[in-house]
Amino acid sequence: MQNALGAVQSLLVLGGSSDIGAAIADRLVPGGCRIVVLAGRRPEAMEPVAGRLRAAGADVVLTGWDAVDIGGHADAIKAAWDAAAIDIDCVVLASGVLGDQSQLEEDPTAAADLAVANYAGPVSTLLHVARRLEEQGHGTIVVLSSVAGERARRSNFVYGSSKAGLDAFAQGLADRLVAAGVRVVVVRPGFVRSSMTNGREPAPLATTPAAVAEAVAGAIASGKEIVWVPATFRYVMAVFRHLPRPLWRRVSGNI
Ligand SMILES: NC(=O)c1ccc[n+]([C@@H]2O[C@H](COP(=O)([O-])OP(=O)(O)OC[C@H]3O[C@@H](n4cnc5c(N)ncnc54)[C@H](OP(=O)(O)O)[C@@H]3O)[C@@H](O)[C@H]2O)c1
Repeated sequence: MQNALGAVQSLLVLGGSSDIGAAIADRLVPGGCRIVVLAGRRPEAMEPVAGRLRAAGADVVLTGWDAVDIGGHADAIKAAWDAAAIDIDCVVLASGVLGDQSQLEEDPTAAADLAVANYAGPVSTLLHVARRLEEQGHGTIVVLSSVAGERARRSNFVYGSSKAGLDAFAQGLADRLVAAGVRVVVVRPGFVRSSMTNGREPAPLATTPAAVAEAVAGAIASGKEIVWVPATFRYVMAVFRHLPRPLWRRVSGNI
């Protein structure tokens, strides 16, 4: 249960080795989060994050979760709740795959796999999470969407469309859960310097995992439901969303 000051005391990160997910945990632990469950498919990649969080004072448990193993999601979410052994205040969906657009266009199976990892798998997972939070009667789900989902770009529309689907799903889930006292925060970062973008040329308004974490912590505390990082993207995308398609093709080819 979030404490009297609204601080998260228990956290589940789905995609426990994610740079952004880890940064959110790094930000919440000093604020009073005492129990962290890192769920993912590679314990060896989550262990360094766990070590850092333990050094900061949290009890940390690693559990298994694979976004594409839809049949395993019920057990994985049960295992996460069992590992926490208390109600979970906040669940962060931080997993995702960017992929290489030209390779994905050449390999339709790989493109469909990316859609499962970024959209279909999270849909299944978040429905299991939603049921748990409804039973608790409280909690916050944080979903890592992207500005890429706001308007598809020629250069990454496989990834962008998966994020558009996830973003729409998260908004609908928020509407379902609000009556149960459960909130959903949709986070739309631009280019974040992380393992996902390593080796790529930073886009305009590039930011950091720590900045995303700061914005997420602010939203959890304030009740904000949509978070752009940096905040300027709210206005930039409001313009981009309405550009005529021929103009958007020209503009988006340069970002
Ligand atoms: N970086 C950016 O520019 C940016 C911008 C906007 C939105 N986002 C979104 O923010 C989120 C976090 O990204 P990041 O920058 O932190 O990237 P990251 O460090 O590369 O983390 C991605 C995470 O996804 C996990 N993952 C991938 N496939 C998985 C699967 N099938 N099952 C379980 N976990 C899986 C990876 O786990 P493994 O260790 O097992 O590979 C890793 O923990 C993603 O949803 C991403 O789309 C990122």
